[in-house]
Amino acid sequence: MKILEYDEVGGDQVLELNVRCFGWFLSPNEVKNIRKVDKRVPEYFAFYAVERNEVLSQVGIVTVDTECTSGKEKVGFIWGVCTRPDAARSGLAMKLMKEAHDRLSGENIRYSFLVTGKSLVAYNLYNELGYKDFASSYWGLRECKSLSKSNSKITLSSKIKNNELVEIFTKYSKGLYGFVHRPENFLQVRNAWTWMPQSKVHVFKDKKSSIGYALVGKEKDILKIRELCCPNKKDISRCIRALELKLKPKYMLSEWTAGIHQINMLGQIGFKPLGSYATLMVKDLKQKHSIKKIQRLYGVKEGKFQMTPVDEY
Ligand SMILES: CC(C)(COP(=O)(O)OP(=O)(O)OC[C@H]1O[C@@H](n2cnc3c(N)ncnc32)[C@H](O)[C@@H]1OP(=O)(O)O)[C@@H](O)C(=O)NCCC(=O)NCCS
Repeated sequence: MKILEYDEVGGDQVLELNVRCFGWFLSPNEVKNIRKVDKRVPEYFAFYAVERNEVLSQVGIVTVDTECTSGKEKVGFIWGVCTRPDAARSGLAMKLMKEAHDRLSGENIRYSFLVTGKSLVAYNLYNELGYKDFASSYWGLRECKSLSKSNSKITLSSKIKNNELVEIFTKYSKGLYGFVHRPENFLQVRNAWTWMPQSKVHVFKDKKSSIGYALVGKEKDILKIRELCCPNKKDISRCIRALELKLKPKYMLSEWTAGIHQINMLGQIGFKPLGSYATLMVKDLKQKHSIKKIQRLYGVKEGKFQMTPVDEY
């Protein structure tokens, strides 16, 4: 078995592998676009287990700046772990994951993160490799009761000024840890990874000033909130109400990771937290820090850890 990089294997075989394993159309054009817009992607893009010229297994890595109590920490984030079904259970993913860890350690990176489901067989793989559950993911479900007319002055706009979203997010995430450092083009980056559902942006305006934004997708009468960002907590319920009035969903569904700041916030305005199988896992590549210590570094217990679905790879 050889381990080769993206440019050494056929882009068409990579596409086939990702369609088989995830139903993800990772075409050569899509790879080109991801490489163009996402500066967190390494030069080699991803690497592959190859036997007799057949691409059998894949692991991808990005490196992301996070914030923890000791300052900025560059971490690895693993994506796209998969093995062709007819080559499964022969140790390929395990070998590629070890290669990923060697590459990250070679860059002096300490922590490797990934998102998975506790209901997936991959969860066993990550456990065997020493990954630990770092933070849980919750759904927040809210039934929207019919609304009386509101005298709220908040309006919704889909026009975004230059760095407006990152500026709002930076204000919002002050004092929080985790995935708080975003590139200016973060929405373009998100949209380049097409496994991620595309989101529409609504900027909340109070008179002329922008007081927050939401990234949402609407399916029939369900509004999925992928990110809600209001630097001033007092604005949250008015913004949710403005969304409700404008888009008239029957249900709102929000997903968030661990942050008690988010759970409390949304709980107060009628979102019921529902635990899920999704989990954010971490491995200390130097094998020195316990999971509790890493959680402390990122303020998980105090509810200061920030991550939303748009930070996932
Ligand atoms: C998860 C996946 C990548 C594993 O690939 P693989 O090459 O078959 O894995 P390996 O042979 O290296 O297995 C390593 C370990 O993973 C676990 N594992 C893998 N397949 C498993 C299965 N079907 N049932 C239970 N555990 C399994 C085991 O702990 C295994 O070690 P063992 O064989 O010594 O018991 C593969 O099943 C896959 O592509 N699944 C679909 C895509 C996916 O869910 N990716 C993960 C997204 S987070």
